[in-house]
Amino acid sequence: MTRIVSVFTGALAITAFTATMIAQAPAGAPPAPSAQAAAGAKSVSDGVYTADQAKRGEAIYKEQCAACHGDNLEGSGPMPALAGPDFTKSWMGKTVADLFDKTHSSMPATAPGSLTEKQTADVLAYLLSVSKYPAGTTELADSIEPLKSISLDAKQ
Ligand code: HEC
Repeated sequence: MTRIVSVFTGALAITAFTATMIAQAPAGAPPAPSAQAAAGAKSVSDGVYTADQAKRGEAIYKEQCAACHGDNLEGSGPMPALAGPDFTKSWMGKTVADLFDKTHSSMPATAPGSLTEKQTADVLAYLLSVSKYPAGTTELADSIEPLKSISLDAKQ
């Protein structure tokens, strides 16, 4: 009789031990990769345009945008600023694809749709440079699809 009881107690102990191990397992598991890393996403703080590209964009900006948006991208009246805290705040959480689409389809306001895709990418590179996002070694793509993985953030 004594033996049966101790076997029973032993079984209980093992069950309790196993239950504890299972309960602890998730804590020891490696952290799940963040959604951003999983999607291969980047932000404009990661050097997503080149200095040369921004220079080409500056020439386009001076010629086609400055008259409305200002020499320093500061905007005025109904023309929004295209750099600085107000600009980055209003685009925060969106992607460069959204900005590309907006610019390509509706700017310059006097001749919407007249910029080529390459000119649009170049002028956006200039906008990012004025907002002090760092240049990198790869040009900003001149099509929507790859730009969807580059988010705008407010870090400056
Ligand atoms: C004739 C004046 C005019 C010209 C030229 C012009 N814009 Fe605009 N732009 C506006 C106005 C007005 C708005 C605000 C209304 C709107 O969003 O459509 C605007 C809005 C924008 C926005 C959206 C800003 C925001 O935060 O919502 C971007 C980006 C932009 N312009 C880029 C450009 C670029 C790049 C050029 C040059 C290729 C350009 N614009 C030329 C008048 C102009």
